[in-house]
Amino acid sequence: SIDQNCDNAKVASLEPFRERKSENDILTTNQGLKIVDDENSLKAGNRGPSLLEDFHFREKMTHFDHERIPERVVHARGSAAHGYFQVYEPLANITKAAMFQDPNKLTPVFVRFSTVAGSRGSADTVRDVRGFAVKFYTDEGNFDLVGNNMPVFFIQDAIKFPDFVHSVKPEPHNEIPQASSAHDTLWDFVTQQTETTHMIMWLMSDRAIPRAYPNMEGFGVHTFRLINEQGVSRFVKFHWKPKLGVHSLVWDEAQKLAGKNSDYHRQQLWEDIEDGNYPEWELGMQVVEEADENKFDFDLLDSTKIIPEELVPVQRVGRMVLNRNPDNFFAETEQVAFCISNIVPGIDFTNDPLLQGRLFSYLDTQLLRLGGPNFHEIPINQPICPFRHNNQRDGLHRQTINVGKTSYGINAINNGLPKSANKKQGFTSYQERIDGYKIRQRSPSFADHFSQATQFWKSMSAPEQDHIVNAFTFELGKVGYVVIRQRMVDQLQNVDGELATRVATNLGLTLNAKVANGNPKSDIASSPALSQMNTAK
Ligand code: HEM
Repeated sequence: SIDQNCDNAKVASLEPFRERKSENDILTTNQGLKIVDDENSLKAGNRGPSLLEDFHFREKMTHFDHERIPERVVHARGSAAHGYFQVYEPLANITKAAMFQDPNKLTPVFVRFSTVAGSRGSADTVRDVRGFAVKFYTDEGNFDLVGNNMPVFFIQDAIKFPDFVHSVKPEPHNEIPQASSAHDTLWDFVTQQTETTHMIMWLMSDRAIPRAYPNMEGFGVHTFRLINEQGVSRFVKFHWKPKLGVHSLVWDEAQKLAGKNSDYHRQQLWEDIEDGNYPEWELGMQVVEEADENKFDFDLLDSTKIIPEELVPVQRVGRMVLNRNPDNFFAETEQVAFCISNIVPGIDFTNDPLLQGRLFSYLDTQLLRLGGPNFHEIPINQPICPFRHNNQRDGLHRQTINVGKTSYGINAINNGLPKSANKKQGFTSYQERIDGYKIRQRSPSFADHFSQATQFWKSMSAPEQDHIVNAFTFELGKVGYVVIRQRMVDQLQNVDGELATRVATNLGLTLNAKVANGNPKSDIASSPALSQMNTAK
């Protein structure tokens, strides 16, 4: 079948880098020197101190000492697989991207699933958002769709991201709690930033404890642009729909699994692929005409909002199959560098202020994590398109040997090479409109923080609502400050009165007045610091 025989060009491109040990191999140093004794270091006498001369010992130990690289600042724990994407029908009417034109073409992909808050060694089945990052190795360069398993996000503006993440991560003084939403700091943040409310509903829902990676939906979250050959632009939201359907664990299972097998999701994905049960998703698109930008009662540029599928149906345009496990976790899963700025002609960004901040952050963080400006040369990150020419050179870990005298743009010595692409061949940024808003002011169209949270709650079945109530009760029950618990149940009144009452009752609280829409800083200013208050713990 096409799945079994998938000629994955990216997997093939890794072949020159693979090192396999064979029967005739003899142990050597990194310089190729054959080594007789790999088990005893050089010593002065039988029982004497070790000798500095022992270059083999020093090389072996030094390499070991330097094995680790920084873990990702978020999404540190993950698992990945190779596969392919195939479009059903040419999409030339909406995008000129090459990967969307030919149903007979398989575009290689590498997909990494992750949790967000926990460190590299944390458990798989914790209550958390899951990353769903797809690198398409297209004929026009790499396109990275770096999404999550929930369609909205906590904040509207990237400048709040470091604050948000600090509130989710273990607390700085004692590194507790790891990989859990049961934080004083998270709930403090959430109750100071009402724009988080919609996403918090998703986080307290069953979506935050997926049964398996192949049971997760994926979402690009932001509104992107599609551009066709004629230069016509439309807005788009990307979706991944799992062929096996969406399934979740129940909380009790999730907790027990975290203790009994912290690799539960990782192992399942690995074994599914080894057994030939290849996970599959369909790519969906919600396409909105440029002229319809303002017809919704929310802003398309606000990442805390979905476009309800009743308003704009999801068109299924292609499929993605994962059919090969990596050879080496570090070389592929750990070193893969997803960058939201990896884009191809026919797709473009919008003015979403969260998306705009991400365009800076990913490249920046990878310069640190992967040790400098040449991380695109790491095998898993290399594009498979047969071209990569520019005047960049040198830097730590540079592998390419740039031949010739010139490494500057405007040169006569080398016939001006390399030349820029023309508009038909290459990427040119969409001429985005700029609205006459004041610098730093949030658009009033981002002001509603609750309507879609209510919509989400109302769309749940009774058992799903029970799970949400139980999740709020469990997580808030771990929060030390009664005042934060109180603020949260008051905030929930803006979502639904019954939800707020049920959680408040479970926590032994009575409801106060509704919280105002917006970010209610006032009670911080007028009250003593929470640290001076009695805690519930
Ligand atoms: C990973 C920043 C929002 C999905 C990361 C990393 C950073 C980051 C620094 C680590 C990357 C690395 O070391 O390789 C940000 C910022 C955000 C933001 C600044 C908002 C301003 C989002 C949103 C999504 C998302 C909205 C989903 C749509 C992911 C995923 C990964 C990731 C899936 C893991 C990629 C992988 O598997 O290697 N993010 N992020 N992030 N982010 Fe974000």
